[in-house]
Amino acid sequence: MPTSREVHLVARPVGEPDPTDFSLVETSVGEPGPGQVLVRNDWISVDPYMRGRMNDTKSYVPPFQLGEPMEGGAVGTVVSSGSDDVPVGASVSHMAGWREYALLPTKAVRPVDTSIAPAQAYLGALGMVGMTAYAGLTEVAEVREGDTVFVSGAAGAVGSLVGQIARQLGAKRVVGSAGGPEKKRRLLEEFGFDAAIDYREGKLTRQLAEAAPDGVDVYFDNVGSDHLQAALNVMNDFGRVALCGAVASYNATEPVPGPNNLFLAVGKRLNLRGFIVGDHNHLAEEYAHRAAGWLAEGKLHTEETVVDGIDNSVQAFLDMMRGANTGKMLVRLSQ
Ligand SMILES: NC(=O)c1ccc[n+]([C@@H]2O[C@H](COP(=O)([O-])OP(=O)(O)OC[C@H]3O[C@@H](n4cnc5c(N)ncnc54)[C@H](OP(=O)(O)O)[C@@H]3O)[C@@H](O)[C@H]2O)c1
Repeated sequence: MPTSREVHLVARPVGEPDPTDFSLVETSVGEPGPGQVLVRNDWISVDPYMRGRMNDTKSYVPPFQLGEPMEGGAVGTVVSSGSDDVPVGASVSHMAGWREYALLPTKAVRPVDTSIAPAQAYLGALGMVGMTAYAGLTEVAEVREGDTVFVSGAAGAVGSLVGQIARQLGAKRVVGSAGGPEKKRRLLEEFGFDAAIDYREGKLTRQLAEAAPDGVDVYFDNVGSDHLQAALNVMNDFGRVALCGAVASYNATEPVPGPNNLFLAVGKRLNLRGFIVGDHNHLAEEYAHRAAGWLAEGKLHTEETVVDGIDNSVQAFLDMMRGANTGKMLVRLSQ
């Protein structure tokens, strides 16, 4: 019977999580019964939304339980199967991340097609992250031909796809913001943005007005706070804002400065709309088809920041929240 190491939340973080809020626990894994599979996780995902699940608060997704393994996206290989539908050797994605092995009912796993892209792409461009970018642009912000699109957190997993997908959907100018000169350079040279902002330089509104001299039609907000304020200042009339996340506030212990100019939404007749990707699953097939095409044609440049080993997974999460990643932050457990 294999043993598995898994990450438990053992204390609810206050502010920035501390490594002592987590514990790496060894458990034994059972053999799959009928209708079950044993999956060896090859890659696990660390994502900003997990910070919210560490709090004991009501949200769109329940909090992690103390003393239990955390959950999250993962892709792995079936190593033992109690079902003919999901044979040994199949690559699957599922939500039992933060552990080396997962014993799961077959209905909890989804086979992934590794002839299109490597398995870990299903934690990034071909998974929830890509769907977030696509749903936010198409159904929430309703991006149109000729739009100027601004996205914050632009060098991250969702943001780097937003810029590129917006272009595929007809945006005429794509502007991104990220932290530091190296990320700014990568936005321009690797992800194909027309203009980039290093938000750490400050004066966001001024930088944004220079980067988008004709104003912004669509703002895809991953950061909130000062970024939302700056975007409201430069939005064009009838602009659309997709409120995707507010990573600037996830570790905050005090209220972060919010936009003090929300009234601009009235005069400019803006549409600000929050969304959760899971409400847009009806787009999954359409997106999978389009994303596979864009990848095959080289129109989507994807980046991964890879950390090895379950024992480094908590640090990978903490580092991602501080901006150590470009593109998708992933933890590789085996390959
Ligand atoms: N609504 C949904 O259904 C949904 C689904 C998925 C993700 N999201 C949201 O989408 C956003 C991006 O998620 P992701 O998975 O793609 O993560 P990510 O962007 O790959 O990683 C998080 C990034 O946040 C940035 N960051 C951290 N603190 C910041 C601050 N104070 N100000 C500005 N940027 C800061 C860092 O980049 P820098 O180095 O540039 O600071 C870091 O790389 C998050 O807000 C997440 O919650 C929402």
